[in-house]
Amino acid sequence: MKLYIETLGCAMNVRDSEHIIAELQEKEGYTLTPNLNEADLILINTCSVREKPEQKLFSEIGQFAKHKKEGAKIGVCGCTASALGHEILKKSPHVDFVLGARNISKITSIIHTPKAVEVDTSHDDSMYVFSDSKPNGYRASLNISIGCDKQCAYCIVPFTRGKEISIPFTLIYEEAQKLVARGVKEILLLGQNVNNYGVRFSTAQPKINFTMLLQELSKIDGLQRIRFTSPHPLHMNDVFLDEFANNPKICKSIHIPLQSGSNKVLKQMKRGYTQEWYLNRIAYLKERVPNVSISTDIIVGFPGECDEDFEETMKVLESVRFDTLYSFIYSARPNTLSHSWGDKDNVPKDIAKQRLTRLQNRHREILRENSQNELGKRHTILIDSNKSSLADTFSEGKSDTNRLVRIQNEFVDIGEIVDVVITEVQGGTFYAKLL
Ligand code: 5AD
Ligand code: SF4
Repeated sequence: MKLYIETLGCAMNVRDSEHIIAELQEKEGYTLTPNLNEADLILINTCSVREKPEQKLFSEIGQFAKHKKEGAKIGVCGCTASALGHEILKKSPHVDFVLGARNISKITSIIHTPKAVEVDTSHDDSMYVFSDSKPNGYRASLNISIGCDKQCAYCIVPFTRGKEISIPFTLIYEEAQKLVARGVKEILLLGQNVNNYGVRFSTAQPKINFTMLLQELSKIDGLQRIRFTSPHPLHMNDVFLDEFANNPKICKSIHIPLQSGSNKVLKQMKRGYTQEWYLNRIAYLKERVPNVSISTDIIVGFPGECDEDFEETMKVLESVRFDTLYSFIYSARPNTLSHSWGDKDNVPKDIAKQRLTRLQNRHREILRENSQNELGKRHTILIDSNKSSLADTFSEGKSDTNRLVRIQNEFVDIGEIVDVVITEVQGGTFYAKLL
């Protein structure tokens, strides 16, 4: 039996797909195929954070139905499955089942249940031990919590992934040990709100928070690098930032979602922090980790955002000089608070687009300026790929600050961690020499 799977959305969705694949391989004998037309089972793991990918879903299902093998099943999984549920079956007769983002562990039963819809957002997978994923190189991701308790006014995630539940420490630790025993050197810890870890478990568990989790995991011999995503600015206390700064196994790149620089908009978004708090945390972090690489998410055109509000966002961009920016035009999502406000404070599309363009253009300039500052700096690289031919020899990998670095004229084994110095910067790629 062959499985074709398409994954949209965030790192959490990518991990969910890995779990689905592992379950189907081990318990149902599936193998993966990149060819839709030979698949017996076609899965689309969807994202619903903005409207666009959701719209694309139905045209895609139509395409899949047209090209699929006779008798092949189509399943819709993930956040749009949670958000739309039965509506998907009503809208598309081609779909055989619908599996919500919080119901992934039911994959092996749902494939045998025609027209089943499993989208219960109170379902609890936090103690479920998924089949082992096949090792994918030297990096792996590991979930530390499910769901999200924040109620950001624009966000559909609490409605698709349910309330936040942390995965017990012992399960995380055992999984991390297992991964390291299989050769994994870098683990990415995943959760909607990682630095809120330990606030709620589904069974009684010893008291633990995210900083303690990082400390415990870094004791595992052979685990060389730890990353995590996403932390919330509100929970960035000094103890956590000190651990980030001082723990040599923690990679020095961090995603700190800003969303808006305006205090008025932040309040309406219900983010729980102000521009001052955000900048204070960044200053604390940069003082302790001068080379830290910071990425962020920004939404423009949130209802009621006026020119002055947007200027505040530009001000934060200027001040923080993010290394990576993910920026979006606000999109009203069903069930959310901002959706319930109706259209009256909506920012006209053309103004939102102009703001997005200005933000992105300025960020591109900042990137050019930032990258020149990297010349001569030392980095540690985990090698992901290499090539040796008569024409060209090089090795490539990611620095602990999450930058792609190429070591020209050197052939380093995949999985090796090496020290380099940056010698040249071209576009998004850094060139380096081995130290
Ligand atoms: N409209 C636009 N962007 C959104 N995001 C979340 N919800 C929305 C929405 N309704 C963005 C946020 C979040 C990222 C994953 O997607 O910036 O951090
Ligand atoms: Fe990930 Fe959010 Fe998209 Fe769900 S809606 S896949 S949690 S980004």
